[in-house]
Amino acid sequence: MQKLKTLIIKVIEATQRAVRPFFIATPSLSRLYYLLFDRAFGYEQQAILKAIIQYEARLGMQDCSSSLLRRNIHRLEKGLIMRPRRDIFALDYIEETVLVYSRSVDVGKYEHSDLAWAYSVLQEFFSVTDLEHPIINASFNTFRAVNFKCEGMSIPYASSKRTKHDVSAKQFKALCKSRRSVRWFEQKKVDKSLLIEALTIATEAPSACNRQAFEFMWIEDEETKQEAVKLPGGTAGFASQIPCLLAVVGDLSAYPFERDRHVIYIDASLASMQFMLACETLGLSTCALNWPELHKLDKRAATLLNLPQHKRIIMFIAVGYALADGGIPFSNKKTAEALLKHVESKKA
Ligand SMILES: Cc1cc2nc3c(=O)[nH]c(=O)nc-3n(C[C@H](O)[C@H](O)[C@H](O)COP(=O)(O)O)c2cc1C
Repeated sequence: MQKLKTLIIKVIEATQRAVRPFFIATPSLSRLYYLLFDRAFGYEQQAILKAIIQYEARLGMQDCSSSLLRRNIHRLEKGLIMRPRRDIFALDYIEETVLVYSRSVDVGKYEHSDLAWAYSVLQEFFSVTDLEHPIINASFNTFRAVNFKCEGMSIPYASSKRTKHDVSAKQFKALCKSRRSVRWFEQKKVDKSLLIEALTIATEAPSACNRQAFEFMWIEDEETKQEAVKLPGGTAGFASQIPCLLAVVGDLSAYPFERDRHVIYIDASLASMQFMLACETLGLSTCALNWPELHKLDKRAATLLNLPQHKRIIMFIAVGYALADGGIPFSNKKTAEALLKHVESKKA
């Protein structure tokens, strides 16, 4: 029976290999290939569709946060720093922005600093734009009716006012060189305060339109952690002694369009890198753990972590105190020269 199964799999694989060249002729043929031979994208596509429905149903709100508000306030800030600045801008999204701002204020536990930022930027926008314009005027009236006030102004500022740092390239290089993926840990608890400190640094990472549609889920319960840590295939042999496990999760419901489906992976990875470097400065070590795009695994993880399908696991991160005599693979890096590719000019 097993032999027959192996034979069938081999025949299917050989057929796929043989027909693939035909299906790369056009995108439509490629889609047909995946429809006929491989269901790899089905679960992901279902997640994206569910996310869009979720986005539309909640008008860009996610629990006590809104990716739409952050995106639109960010767009307003870009308009405010434009050179030359136009007297009238944001006509195509100002009504939506004020509406989602008003809804956000109505959410009891909404992140206060986000609201303060939105309030300040809207205030600044209405103070420099033409209030006589009917769209802007209507939006201004809605804005004025919202019951929210805050101290200070979180609005665009000159580059020279940015926070100063005294980290030299040499120091930063040393930090980056000392960060290595650590797989063997002391059996010592990682304090929540350290995670918060590292995550505070991670939040400084860039994200597309400032939507920040990701979370770091701390799998604190020992039993759940022992189960979760075995799910990424790459933990075999060292899984059980990982003292602290985080799941980096992206929220696809922050985007109304399929074109943005990769943004969660980019944004969360940028923040994860900052998190891992921050951990290093706090005496903690980390190892990113691969999350393959396999829907059976996804379903198991979703059940374990109580995740709706539109929340996608991006990677896991092991965190802990490195065991002094634990081995570290050399993991040679490419040279900078190999990374830097020159784009040839197309102009003759
Ligand atoms: C997205 C990602 C997934 C990874 N998955 C695993 C994994 O599943 N198991 C593992 O032992 N290491 C994993 N690693 C660690 C890599 O093997 C490691 O980063 C690489 O060999 C370079 O070594 P360094 O991190 O020490 O510089 C992963 C790293 C990244 C960035």
